[in-house]
Formats: sequence, structure tokens, C-alpha cells
Amino acid sequence: MVEALETLMHEHRLIEQVAGSLDTFVANLDRQAEADRQTVRDYADFFRTFTDKCHHGKEEDRLFVLMNQFGFPKEFGPVAVMIAEHREGRDHIGVLASIGAGDGPLTDDERQAVIEHGGAYVPLIRAHIMKEDNILYPMAQQAIPPDEMDKLAAAMERFERDEMGEGTHERYHTLAERLIEAYPPDASRMAEGAACVGCPGHM
Ligand SMILES: [Fe+2]
Repeated sequence: MVEALETLMHEHRLIEQVAGSLDTFVANLDRQAEADRQTVRDYADFFRTFTDKCHHGKEEDRLFVLMNQFGFPKEFGPVAVMIAEHREGRDHIGVLASIGAGDGPLTDDERQAVIEHGGAYVPLIRAHIMKEDNILYPMAQQAIPPDEMDKLAAAMERFERDEMGEGTHERYHTLAERLIEAYPPDASRMAEGAACVGCPGHM
């Protein structure tokens, strides 16, 4: 894989781990820990900033734009599906963010909403990542000439620096590590999700 796509796939590995962590958190939410609201806020912060603004930003504003020039329109087909899934994920995380912004212990309704939207987001982002790793990125690599891919890697680095600011990436790595440690991904549940690779109707 070329550098630009390697970078994105590397980010996928971290996003998967934090999604696995969210899965564990949601599965244990009935224990009602005092810090639940802060934890919801932390997950929303990671998925909103690292996953959506930074990672999806580099895809939508850089990679997909380049793919448009090499035969993949954004109105229909695989790129359109990816953009629609980014949007769907954004809606779920928006709900977590607004709950995270509240005060005091989570109410029953809020806990239910975290279970519903967190529970929907985890399989969505996992399946989405699998499609990108196994279908979309290989298609991009085949369609886009190597010199354009080199320029893309540099453009992604600039995006990271200009849009996200120095040190942001590292800060979110630290947050991710903290969440993964507090709520470790369950290997068997992660494997269940992975069994869906190549399921018909997934793209
Ligand atoms: Fe991605």
C-alpha cells in the first residue's frame, strides 16, 4: 500500500480499538459508574475530533476528491456510500456528545440513548473500516497514479498540521489509550464483528 493509504489504515487500527472499548463501555453501562457522563464525553470527543474531523476529513477533503478525478464520483457508487456512512456515524456521535455535555449522573433515558447510539455506531464504524481497507483503498491504489499518491501523502500531512494543529494527533492518542485501558476491547466480540468481512450487501 502507498504511504497515504498506509497512514489512513494505521488510523483505522486505533479507531477500531476505541470502538471496541466503546462496545465494552456500553455493555457495562448498567453498572452506573459515577464517571459515566465524563466517559461518554471522552468517547464523543475522540470520535468527533480524531475519527471524524481528522481521519474522515483527510478522506473527504483529500483522498475522495482525488478519487473523483480518477473515475469515482461522489454522487453515487463506493465514494458516495462512504460519505453517507460518515454522515450516519456523525449523527450517532452527535447524540453522545450532547449527552456528554450535560451535568450530573446519567438519567435512565440518557443511558438508554447511549446504549442505542453507541451500540449502533460500533458495528457501523467496524464494517465501514473493513470496506475501506479491503475494497475502497485497493480501488484507489489501482486507479490513482503513484506520483498523485505521493502528492496526496504530503497534502494529508498539511491537512493534519493546518486543520488540526500541532500536537492534536498525539493528544488523541493519549485519550484513546486511556479509554482502551479503562474499558478494554473484548477480543471475542471484536472477532464477531470481523467475521462480517465480505458479507454480501455490505457495500
Ligand atoms: Fe477511514
